[in-house]
Amino acid sequence: MKFFIDTANFEEIKEAHSWGIISGVTTNPSLVAKEQNISFHDRLREIAELVDGSISGEVIALDAEGMVKEGLELAAIAPNITVKLPMTPAGLTACSTLSKQGIKTNVTLIFSANQALLAARAGATYVSPFLGRLDDLGQDGIELVRQIAEIFAIHEIDTQIIAASIRHPQHITEAALAGAHISTTPYNVLTQLFKHPLTDKGIEGFLADWNKKNGK
Ligand code: E4P
Repeated sequence: MKFFIDTANFEEIKEAHSWGIISGVTTNPSLVAKEQNISFHDRLREIAELVDGSISGEVIALDAEGMVKEGLELAAIAPNITVKLPMTPAGLTACSTLSKQGIKTNVTLIFSANQALLAARAGATYVSPFLGRLDDLGQDGIELVRQIAEIFAIHEIDTQIIAASIRHPQHITEAALAGAHISTTPYNVLTQLFKHPLTDKGIEGFLADWNKKNGK
């Protein structure tokens, strides 16, 4: 499973990118709205220059024609832009149109296996099931990833699954085991993945022994 980072904050992207683990970035209108003093397109351009991988920018229009128009504008920003489209009939029409033009697409707000299958058949490069939001309703987000992965495997569908709406490190392990190709992870969860008390204790112990031997 690869890591994308789920943010429009350039500092967070730069930091996570410096760790050498980031294969892409996803944004959404809520994440972009948190950013000050920069336009959406300029931020996407900046990210696309830094990260050599898929950079998702989401359309705002609700009709297919508007989505295609916005999608073409987004795709013109950089060759690694992926157009993010909502899971609606219009979103799928736009997905199909853009995919046929060779533009990468990410169908977002996926909450059922049937939605994922529809998006795949409309030519989606990626589907984004939202784990945390399903868990919030008492449903099992990871089970959804498992179902989608199984259906895609049975039917030899090469659309990639992005586990989204990640809330904690356990989601990452479970999404990887369930067959997600990618997890798009917020910065605060990425930083938690490094941590283990035995790692810190181990470093402390090694340094203490080294210093004792070297008279420090
Ligand atoms: C995915 O592409 C979305 O941007 C994101 O994962 C949504 O997560 P949330 O439920 O934390 O808003």
